[in-house]
Amino acid sequence: MIDFLTDSGTSAMSSNQWAGIMQGDESYAGSKSWERMESSIHELTGLPFVFPTHQGRAGERILYGYLGGEGKTFISNTHFDTTRANIEFSGAEAIDIPISEGTIPSLIHPFKGNMDLVKLEDLIKLKGAENIGGVILTVTNNSGGGQPVSMANAKGVSDICKKYNVNYFLDCCRIAENSYFVKHREKGFENHTYKQIAQEMFFLTDGAIMSAKKDALVNMGGFLALKNKELAEACKNLLIITEGFTTYGGLSGRDMEAIAIGLEEIFDANYLHYRIKSTAYLGERLHKMGIPLIMPIGGHAVYIDAKALYPHIPVEQYPGQALVCELYLTGGIRSVEIGSVMFGKYDEKGKLVPASMELVRLAIPRRVYTQSHIEFVVEVFEKLFENRKNVSGCMIIEEPKFLRHFTAKFNTVS
Ligand code: F0G
Repeated sequence: MIDFLTDSGTSAMSSNQWAGIMQGDESYAGSKSWERMESSIHELTGLPFVFPTHQGRAGERILYGYLGGEGKTFISNTHFDTTRANIEFSGAEAIDIPISEGTIPSLIHPFKGNMDLVKLEDLIKLKGAENIGGVILTVTNNSGGGQPVSMANAKGVSDICKKYNVNYFLDCCRIAENSYFVKHREKGFENHTYKQIAQEMFFLTDGAIMSAKKDALVNMGGFLALKNKELAEACKNLLIITEGFTTYGGLSGRDMEAIAIGLEEIFDANYLHYRIKSTAYLGERLHKMGIPLIMPIGGHAVYIDAKALYPHIPVEQYPGQALVCELYLTGGIRSVEIGSVMFGKYDEKGKLVPASMELVRLAIPRRVYTQSHIEFVVEVFEKLFENRKNVSGCMIIEEPKFLRHFTAKFNTVS
């Protein structure tokens, strides 16, 4: 009935984007659609070297694969799962250092996506600056509840990275939603446009990776943008080997046309207001009902604290996955676990090392659902809330080594 699995690639394209698609230039080299995409990214990021990729993780594989390897460390407010997987696959380690407020679901703070700057400096000193593959600020912080990052924090990260000569990258797939929160919550940005706020955030970095499937309002696409020429040259070679030539990087001309238009539309003040308010509407209805949530509500999704909703289910039985199943069985609502199924690890004895939170994400596709759909979701939650004490946990019966949540199989614990 309702697909809240992800907001990635599931948004509705505008009539303007569809019109652009009809004009896609499918030349192998030097496509005009690439020129339009490149110039919109230049204008937004100010970064001189831009490469198209077929989605975000392709950029991650190229950049973090190149900078990673045994002995390297990456530091982030929270690495998204594909980011972490690409880093770990290279042999490097990925460390998350969100501010402590960011890990307490019910605590109200305007920028729970911020990175802990004290820990950042300590970690760089501990590991040695030469061993840091990069510092990655994810805006908004998807795995930490879709919570925003302030400009002051982005500036703090940038200052520390400059001091130690460490690369600083932005994982910017929800940069427009982040800009909305900066304008409305951070002093000094009231009179900036959303785009100016995003431009200022990009200006602080050495590069950025974007999955265009989120805030570029397209079904497929992404890019990698860099400041440093040498690093860009190395990435260019990897791009050609694995994605495609530098003027399409795995994308059709029509996809690039839609990205160029989407990157303009996303900063429309009316659109962003509707987007953030409609996500908050669902969250506030659930909050009133007594469903424990990450508060305040983030930009692209509502995150349910499944550990608090089902305190009788131990983390080894994945309370988040149990809620995901309940939502589907009761209301045909698809969602996703962001907890120990996604981020849990095993110690040497095979015991689960759980994630810091057991969340379920209701990610809302852009420009897709109406208020009636959301009212239906609220009714389903009323039923779930009533029945919460009778729900049992899950166990994993099959799982791969990396990104297990994509293909793992489960059974209910009886
Ligand atoms: N970074 C962040 C913060 C993301 O949310 C995602 C994808 C990626 C990188 C990777 O981009 O999918 O284009 O390869 N997030 C989706 C989600 C899958 O459901 O949140 P991709």
